[in-house]
Amino acid sequence: MKKLFCALTLAALVVMGACTGGSAGTAVQTDIPHLEKRGDVTQMIVGGKPFLALSGELRNSSSSSPEYMRPIWPKLREAGLNSVIAVLTWEQIEPVEGQFEFGVVDQLIADARANDLKLIFIWMGSWKNGITSYDPVWVKNNPERYQLALTREGKRLPILSTQCAAARDADAKAYGALMAHIRDVDRDQTVIMMQIENEVGLHGYTRDYHPDAVRAFEGPVPAELISYLDSHFDNLLPETRNAWVAAGRKKSGSWEEVFGVGDYTDELFMAWSYASYIGKIAAAGKAEYPIPTYVNAWIVQPEDLHPGNYPSGGPQAQNHDMWRAAAPGIDILSPDIYLNDYPGIIRMYSRCGNPVFIPESRGGQGGAANAAFTFGEMGGIGYSPFGIDSQVDSPANQDLYNFYRLAGSAADEILAAQAEGRICGAWLKGSDPAVYKEERVMGDWRICFELVSSGRRNGGAPQVTGGTYNPSSIGYGIAIQEENGFLILGSNVRVYFYPADGVGTAGLAKVTEGRFENGEWHEGRWLNGDEIQLRYDLLYAIEDGVSGQGLNFGTPTPGLIKVELFKY
Ligand code: DGJ
Repeated sequence: MKKLFCALTLAALVVMGACTGGSAGTAVQTDIPHLEKRGDVTQMIVGGKPFLALSGELRNSSSSSPEYMRPIWPKLREAGLNSVIAVLTWEQIEPVEGQFEFGVVDQLIADARANDLKLIFIWMGSWKNGITSYDPVWVKNNPERYQLALTREGKRLPILSTQCAAARDADAKAYGALMAHIRDVDRDQTVIMMQIENEVGLHGYTRDYHPDAVRAFEGPVPAELISYLDSHFDNLLPETRNAWVAAGRKKSGSWEEVFGVGDYTDELFMAWSYASYIGKIAAAGKAEYPIPTYVNAWIVQPEDLHPGNYPSGGPQAQNHDMWRAAAPGIDILSPDIYLNDYPGIIRMYSRCGNPVFIPESRGGQGGAANAAFTFGEMGGIGYSPFGIDSQVDSPANQDLYNFYRLAGSAADEILAAQAEGRICGAWLKGSDPAVYKEERVMGDWRICFELVSSGRRNGGAPQVTGGTYNPSSIGYGIAIQEENGFLILGSNVRVYFYPADGVGTAGLAKVTEGRFENGEWHEGRWLNGDEIQLRYDLLYAIEDGVSGQGLNFGTPTPGLIKVELFKY
């Protein structure tokens, strides 16, 4: 990300609905949780302050029982989480049409608050992973009214059709009632964000063969979509722009006339259809209580051959323009990332200013590296491994909790540095993909982050480093630019420096480890000697342009080090 060491004045902060499409720039209620553009990033403001969401998502059924959750809440707080993503279901909240039962919502809010945790609720209504199963029995029992998507042969899929206005309106009514209730009871603002539905999209086919869907697909592309594409032409994703331009940039016509014949057009049609349906639900909720709102994507997997192998029309990266155009009440289009190339995917999903919030990913040391990259490099709002309640006691997850506790203690520094463009992050891995080294330039210095390796002295020859990386090793680093150097949070990483202009050598003037307590820096050991001497092959080091000294975060347990630099 762009690094600018500049002080932000309050006047420079743009309060916004979101970076995404339609709601950008609209007035936002600032006395409730909301998103703000600060510098180059979008941050979540809670209680008047930026909030870094160190989260975890509960398993799908856990939050349906406050009793099941009771012993888990304190463990989550102890693990360093400050927020939890929890499911609320339409079937539990409106078991009888028009009769709402909010007991489970009230209990979750009370229990989270008692444990000093914020809540992000997932509204599981019409779809979960594309499938319809959280709808109430009165919806399930009436497929004539609440119509399902159809196969090419006309068979019913267990998926509500996006064309079914009755289902959409019933879902929107229930969600609106929920948001009105949260507004009325959640006076301390424990609930900070909402996810609507879960990983939506059509399974099996590129598009729905319900007759209403076929009619809409063969009919004209809605004028409001064409007008959106036209007015946002310079900021469209290349995927959308290329398809539209290749088909002649027409201002009217059927979907195939406007975008060409092929799977991508089917997928765009489904994305517009899902986003229109969910956009109505989001609007009903925001009319009552306009807190930040996102949807999550089941992302394309390497083995997928066409949309429908993954849910077609979901908020996958290539469909974002449809979502922005049809659902301005959705502020963030989030990817669920279980694939290995975490940095590549997060970059793909943050195009065109889409704020970064990762609701589902991995735990453990891999999760810690993902979270560090999210906050340090991508200006992210939050990170959340899935299934946190079943992992809370797992030894393998302690690496993530160690990161959460440390990042939580330094959250004010991280958030200020994000807003001021003086932070970067590195994600390192021994294999699959192998990323041994990452370099970033900030201010006068080039920073090199290198995965810890079994480097050793090698007689008079250059010291051995590369090629000896442990394939299962994972490391990370976050660097925050300070007056004469950096504050570095690191794990399994060695960090050394060069002058950014390539002139001279960077020396370490002063190195101290320490910790934050209630926002105050407490200095620990002054590090020197063996603790900072990375190599002794000085003649080769000179050729490499380095001093041979650097910071050594040699274990998965992360630490904080402040370093002041000089040049010789
Ligand atoms: C993705 C879904 O969004 C979650 O609800 C959950 O089912 C996980 N997959 C399970 O890995």
